[in-house]
Amino acid sequence: MTTSERATVEFGTVCVVGLGYIGLPTAAFIASRGPNVIGVDVNESFVERINKGEVPFFEPDFEDLLKNVVNEGKLRAQTDTPWAEAYIVAVPTPFREDYSVDTKYIEAAGAKIAAQLKGGELIVLESTSPPGTTEKLAELVLGQRPDLTSEDGLENSIYFTHAPERVLPGRIMKEMADNDRIIGGVTPHGAQLARDLYATFVERGELLLTDAKTAEMAKLTENSFRDVNIAFANELSIISEKLGIDVWELIELANHHPRVNILQPGPGVGGHCIAVDPWFIVNAAPTESRLIRTAREVNDSKPTYVIDKVQALSDRFKDPVVAALGIAFKANIDDLRESPSLNIVDDLADRIPGADLRVVEPNVEELPERLAKHENVRKQDLETAIADADIILLLVDHDEFKGVDSAVLNEKAVIDTKGLWR
Ligand SMILES: NC(=O)c1ccc[n+]([C@@H]2O[C@H](COP(=O)([O-])OP(=O)(O)OC[C@H]3O[C@@H](n4cnc5c(N)ncnc54)[C@H](O)[C@@H]3O)[C@@H](O)[C@H]2O)c1
Repeated sequence: MTTSERATVEFGTVCVVGLGYIGLPTAAFIASRGPNVIGVDVNESFVERINKGEVPFFEPDFEDLLKNVVNEGKLRAQTDTPWAEAYIVAVPTPFREDYSVDTKYIEAAGAKIAAQLKGGELIVLESTSPPGTTEKLAELVLGQRPDLTSEDGLENSIYFTHAPERVLPGRIMKEMADNDRIIGGVTPHGAQLARDLYATFVERGELLLTDAKTAEMAKLTENSFRDVNIAFANELSIISEKLGIDVWELIELANHHPRVNILQPGPGVGGHCIAVDPWFIVNAAPTESRLIRTAREVNDSKPTYVIDKVQALSDRFKDPVVAALGIAFKANIDDLRESPSLNIVDDLADRIPGADLRVVEPNVEELPERLAKHENVRKQDLETAIADADIILLLVDHDEFKGVDSAVLNEKAVIDTKGLWR
């Protein structure tokens, strides 16, 4: 069901639980549109900084909005969960060793909310979750509060909804208002109430109503689609190398077909969404998720392929200097979470102890502890690293690396995992 109907319910007080990359901008956007918003986070230093109008992570152009809503008294942060007409839960959903989701943060948030409820409240789960999680959250809350019900339309009804988030960090100011949102209710009225809440700040995006389980699966499906497509490109890159074909040219040519759109290969897949979310599907339906599981395995094995290539090249040199360009999980960001490039450098340091590894990463001040602890790894500027290198290993296509002199590259052994210099 698609709807662009006008909102019929207005919310006076909204509580956003979890004030990270997703929760804090959501809280600030809602506060800027009228409702009073109370943000809750277990991290006291986040709470203190937010109440001073400081953004505790990097997000371009967001600080002005936050300062405004904090100064106007529309948004305040605290560690205790208060009563509110509507709750939005945006806490982390990491996976465990066996790739099953760890819902402990959702459960902790749900238990605190349950204690505040009076009847009539809306609870929206925004955290990326396996199918059935919103219903489980409802069971947990109602288990604690048997005086309440998840049935529609009663005085003691609580409305549970899933509204997955698809903003791209770095573009949040635009995408919060522009992106279409899927809103899945455990009951139809829950979806309508959440639609009214999101209509306050989703200005240009469409609000698409469905049931909670479909909404949960939709978010996982979007990221699995990208993961499978990247795995296809990564597999092509390995096949092409074996057959002596330039994979970048191959993909460019194939993409001229009007119905073909292959993504780009690389050193692996990182970040906390595409490399994580497909596992939630695999875990929910292990026997049936053959393609999705294989895609994850293909992408997770690409770093080892790159490491083997560096090892083979380094045998040509005695104690080679290796310039490793980029350790972020993708271009032009400072985010190192689940980064395959960082893992590659970390493993190379152990695998080739004689190698002198110079890491060039313009977006971070210092190397993370995982790399800094190696004696044979240090951070260096681009020019020096390139000049000194026997092997140049391009891992991330940051803008800064585009202009490297091709005459210099011709003199060195080069592994370009992103096809930046082709
Ligand atoms: N960051 C993204 O690009 C993105 C995009 C789409 C979906 N998501 C999903 O959104 C969810 C949140 O992601 P994020 O990137 O904002 O995470 P984050 O780690 O930046 O923020 C989560 C916040 O929740 C707080 N928290 C943890 N337990 C809590 C509790 N019991 N009560 C109150 N606060 C608690 C943490 O202190 C932290 O500040 C995850 O499920 C993630 O998969 C993230």
